[in-house]
Amino acid sequence: MNDISQMRTVFDKHEPLDIKTMPDSPVKLFEQWFELARHTEHLAEPNAFVLSTANHAGRLRTRTVLLKYFDHHGFVFFTNYHSQKAHDISENPQVSVCFPWYPLQRQLLIEGRAEKISQAESLKYFASRPKESQIGAWVSQQSQVIDSRQLLIDKAKQLAQRFAGKSVPLPDFWGGYRIRPTRFEFWQGQPGRLHDRIQYTTTELDDKVLDDSTIWEKQRLSP
Ligand SMILES: Cc1cc2nc3c(=O)[nH]c(=O)nc-3n(C[C@H](O)[C@H](O)[C@H](O)COP(=O)(O)O)c2cc1C
Repeated sequence: MNDISQMRTVFDKHEPLDIKTMPDSPVKLFEQWFELARHTEHLAEPNAFVLSTANHAGRLRTRTVLLKYFDHHGFVFFTNYHSQKAHDISENPQVSVCFPWYPLQRQLLIEGRAEKISQAESLKYFASRPKESQIGAWVSQQSQVIDSRQLLIDKAKQLAQRFAGKSVPLPDFWGGYRIRPTRFEFWQGQPGRLHDRIQYTTTELDDKVLDDSTIWEKQRLSP
């Protein structure tokens, strides 16, 4: 029996959002929502977000990555610089992000431009990773077709021997991207499908580095 059409939830977890009392900075509000998400039971991987990229031809691709830190300048994740997403970003830096916090009856959307962080900044994070993950970064030619899983296991073993008792260097094909946001949307379910949607936009130009003095416009969108 297929009863998917009858699956629905009453969205009643939160008081309606009041645009007047919401912070002027979407980064501040992100922080508040993130703090709640990370302390919510049964909300797996609160720092995971769905990242969509488009290549020069407009072909879209979507996958999950992990947020590692954020501030007024942007939201940072780490990946392989030869991966499909990296190719897409090199052709078109515009990206779209969704944090799907369903147990909270919330989603948080961000649009912006992704740019590589410096090698020194990547190294700082890489050095903090467990050795197994550092070796994993070396092993994987992310997004390439491979013949078998065994190839990965063998390569990981070889590299573990090579780096035994030594620190693992940062691969030059691995590092972080900072997403510099130009739009946020805070979505929160409400009864009767009268959901809250508050967007923050900034018209500040792409080449201006965003910071805590950035001026954001707040608007309510129809659900
Ligand atoms: C929960 C979760 C977290 C992930 N985190 C990352 C990440 O931080 N960085 C990354 O490169 N891939 C991460 N992945 C794997 C990506 O979804 C994806 O398979 C990989 O980056 C290759 O994507 P691409 O071929 O589109 O470049 C994660 C997957 C899941 C399910």
